[in-house]
Amino acid sequence: MKERLQELQQEAIVKIESANDLKELNDVRVAYLGKKGPITEVLRGMGKLSAEERPVMGALANEVREAIASSLEAKQALLEEAEVERKLASETIDVTLPGRPVKVGNHHPLTAVIEEIEDLFLRMGYCIAEGPEVEKDYYNFEALNLPKGHPARDMQDSFYITEEILLRTHTSPVQARTMEKNQGKGPIKIICPGKVYRRDNDDATHSHQFTQIEGLVIDENIRMSDLKGTLEVFAKKMFGEEREIRLRPSFFPFTEPSVEVDVSCHKCGGHGCNVCKGTGWIEILGAGMVHPNVLEMAGYDSKKYQGFAFGMGPERIAMLKYGVDDIRHFYTNDVRFLQQFKRA
Ligand code: DAH
Repeated sequence: MKERLQELQQEAIVKIESANDLKELNDVRVAYLGKKGPITEVLRGMGKLSAEERPVMGALANEVREAIASSLEAKQALLEEAEVERKLASETIDVTLPGRPVKVGNHHPLTAVIEEIEDLFLRMGYCIAEGPEVEKDYYNFEALNLPKGHPARDMQDSFYITEEILLRTHTSPVQARTMEKNQGKGPIKIICPGKVYRRDNDDATHSHQFTQIEGLVIDENIRMSDLKGTLEVFAKKMFGEEREIRLRPSFFPFTEPSVEVDVSCHKCGGHGCNVCKGTGWIEILGAGMVHPNVLEMAGYDSKKYQGFAFGMGPERIAMLKYGVDDIRHFYTNDVRFLQQFKRA
């Protein structure tokens, strides 16, 4: 019996030594120290021993169990340590590896230009006003001194939804709406950015949908010189401090007098080049003094109040500023185009 116990101890220790992981080790534990294990089996034979031999064998059996248990414990510690080491090794981070590049977007050039114009006018004390893109014929035309059948309506081929509702052809209806909301009282100083729609065939300079920014100032004693001064500041801030503007007589039903505003060419400085088509001047917007009819229709006393208004196309401004030769680039979302406007 003594030999058998010693043999079992040897056997168990060999198996413990060769266990590769915690699971194998646990199998050895269950096999040798479990209730149905060989040591228990051997001890069943104790009944056949003499009274002197019994305690000796009992003590030996305990020694064998303890030896196996302590060897299990030692091996377990080793395996656990190895496990931690392996985990650490597999999770090491190489801080010297180059990072994956993160793609950073940028403002759409049109958005950037619109925000630049907004900022400029906000700093001059203007507020931003907005209006619906699906507009009433009344605000788009009639309230702007363009009654039904007026020939100037043809200048703006419209998308009608019903006879009275259309996609706005310009941002000028926001003028009429804002004046009406003010009920003929107090000053107004707004710019109105937004999308507009026209029945045009798309080409390098036309788009059926584009953006506009409208400006409107209403107060007592507003003069043409206020308009001119404001537009001069605008031109210099957008195209450079050396720029000059010139006003040419024009016609808009909602302004009287009406002007078209040119800015001296930022590319050639006014000598004539391909950008200004040899003239030294580039047309950038339409403007004028608000027509008395427009004031009166919105409830303003045109004897007491005057105003100026202007309307510009951010696409055109952006095209001039950045030398873009096709308006469609703004809408086709080619990242190769858009990424060129990333700020440094
Ligand atoms: N609404 C005009 C257009 O779309 C632009 C414009 C011209 C607006 C003169 C104005 C203005 O406010 O005074 O062509």
